[in-house]
Amino acid sequence: MKNKVALITGVNGQDGSYLAELLLRKGYVVHGIRRYSSTNSLVNLKEIIKKKKFSKKFHLHYGDITDTDSIYQIIKKSKPTEVYNLAAQSHVHVSFQIPEYTSQVDGVSQLRILEVVKEIDPKIKIYQAATSELYGDTKLKFLDETSGFNPVSPYSVSKLFGFYISKVYRSAYNMFICNGILFNHESPRRGKSFVTRKITSSVVDIVNGSGEILKIGNLNAKRDWGYAKEYVVTMWKMLQQKKPDDYVISTGKQYSVRQFIEESFNYFGIKILWKGKGLNEIGYDKKTKKILVKIDPYYFRPNEVPNLKGNSKKAKKVLGWSPKTDFKELVKIMIKAELDK
Ligand code: GDD
Repeated sequence: MKNKVALITGVNGQDGSYLAELLLRKGYVVHGIRRYSSTNSLVNLKEIIKKKKFSKKFHLHYGDITDTDSIYQIIKKSKPTEVYNLAAQSHVHVSFQIPEYTSQVDGVSQLRILEVVKEIDPKIKIYQAATSELYGDTKLKFLDETSGFNPVSPYSVSKLFGFYISKVYRSAYNMFICNGILFNHESPRRGKSFVTRKITSSVVDIVNGSGEILKIGNLNAKRDWGYAKEYVVTMWKMLQQKKPDDYVISTGKQYSVRQFIEESFNYFGIKILWKGKGLNEIGYDKKTKKILVKIDPYYFRPNEVPNLKGNSKKAKKVLGWSPKTDFKELVKIMIKAELDK
């Protein structure tokens, strides 16, 4: 194989770490950018760091995608053939509290990377992490690459900029740029502020006798949840095609937050029954009658995306990719990992 060099922004996040492992297995030299923070965790990179074979070909750089100079220097020195832009302020709810910062990180920074690549070597291929949040509040049943966008958060509006500016640079400068419109993708490496990991970690704590109650927001939001480890494969596949394009990556099935909670307790043989309405709704253990779930309005968003379900026919046809892990299996993987901790 010709020497392939990848640069991953957000390398210590869920997707960045899985992608780095995948590329190292494929023989790439991998450079990763991480932001400095006194508590910045490398826990997702422990598989790489402990394997000598991998760590020899893996290079971490301090940098920030909001800082042109650091991006310029890292790209200039590491000479990547592929850049994966996965760094983000990725929390939709938080984006309402820090909208300007979110727009800088999730929108303008993609433009920054495009400009730097255009300047240094416009042949470098670029993957941009787009998102199903672009569809926002939609009435459409299945969402694919032709569906209209209706973003409803500072996060998704910023990502919309990233999406379109990537298309503009692709057509105007003939650059190889792909937008991956990934639907929700989860794993044990997900941060605990996202609903799936919050649920699985709380359920395990509750089962272990912590005495806590799971405090949750909108129980009825529906998402198309897939397994992150499988989804990062599509990022790589997109960049191996003859032509750059945009792809929806999803399972085509949707479940509610409520169902995610039920399935998580179900792993331990606990059946959750629901009582009450709105803010007063509670979930309790059918057998013991103990209250295990309560609504906390703190987790409601100023605008909600009620419902997302993707159609990945194009990814199947062109990339030869389809998801293997279904909803139940995903919950199982996440609960088991929580138990192992
Ligand atoms: N985080 C959170 N916490 N969400 C809750 C809670 C709670 O306590 N209770 C209910 N929800 C609902 C949210 O309102 C939302 O409808 C749904 O659960 C999923 O929320 P998140 O897990 O925070 O994910 P998201 O769908 O908003 O966004 C994630 O997926 C996108 C698509 O891939 C993020 O990873 C985005 O960065 C990503 O683009």
